[in-house]
Amino acid sequence: MTVKQSRRADDAPAPKVLNPELRAEAEAIAAKYPNSRSALLPLLFLVQSVEGYVTDEGMREVAEILDLEPAQILSSGSFYTMLKKRPQGDYLVSVCRNISCTHLGARKVVRALEDHLGIEAGETTSDGMFSLEAAECLATCDGAPAMQINYEDFYNVTGDEAVALVERLGRGEVVLSVRGEPVRTSRQISHETATAGLRRPVTGTEHMPTMGGETPKQDGGPGTRPKVPGEGPRD
Ligand code: FES
Repeated sequence: MTVKQSRRADDAPAPKVLNPELRAEAEAIAAKYPNSRSALLPLLFLVQSVEGYVTDEGMREVAEILDLEPAQILSSGSFYTMLKKRPQGDYLVSVCRNISCTHLGARKVVRALEDHLGIEAGETTSDGMFSLEAAECLATCDGAPAMQINYEDFYNVTGDEAVALVERLGRGEVVLSVRGEPVRTSRQISHETATAGLRRPVTGTEHMPTMGGETPKQDGGPGTRPKVPGEGPRD
């Protein structure tokens, strides 16, 4: 991907990615760091929170705020897989395709999702709601077959259960992951990630949403059962 010129064909300025409110957040984030370059990743997540991926225009705006060259933004931004370089669905559904999960039925889960969503792994639905991918090991092998939706874990899923989860998200219902957190849209997660440094420090017992880790809290439905090592495929 190249950073294109900032003028469009009709020579009209490209519309701003960051509105005044987000621009103010960007400047507040940048001000937190003695070296402005350190704010690069949060600001790219802020850009991603607008359109769901890091646009060329967004990179140019980050370069301007941080007084960096667009090439410096591009080289850092293209390194991280959580920063998306092309349009992606509101919900990224990742089904593990590594050994444990494949042995315990992951292919059936992928097939069920492909059939339901009408896309193949690696594609995004035409309404922009779901992207489906076959992922490498999600590091929850004893919860195989394992899947994530926007990096929230679900264990021991069957094809029917995976479909039920995306159906619920499609209806706008709250879906809790195995750690009891609601699955957020990719734009919400990007904004939370970008602005995490602006929020007050977490105190001892406060529960702060995170994108990783695991704090099983309850049996909240399909895919949220405790891990059952050795349990066989159930569909
Ligand atoms: S093999 Fe699927 S999570 Fe590790």
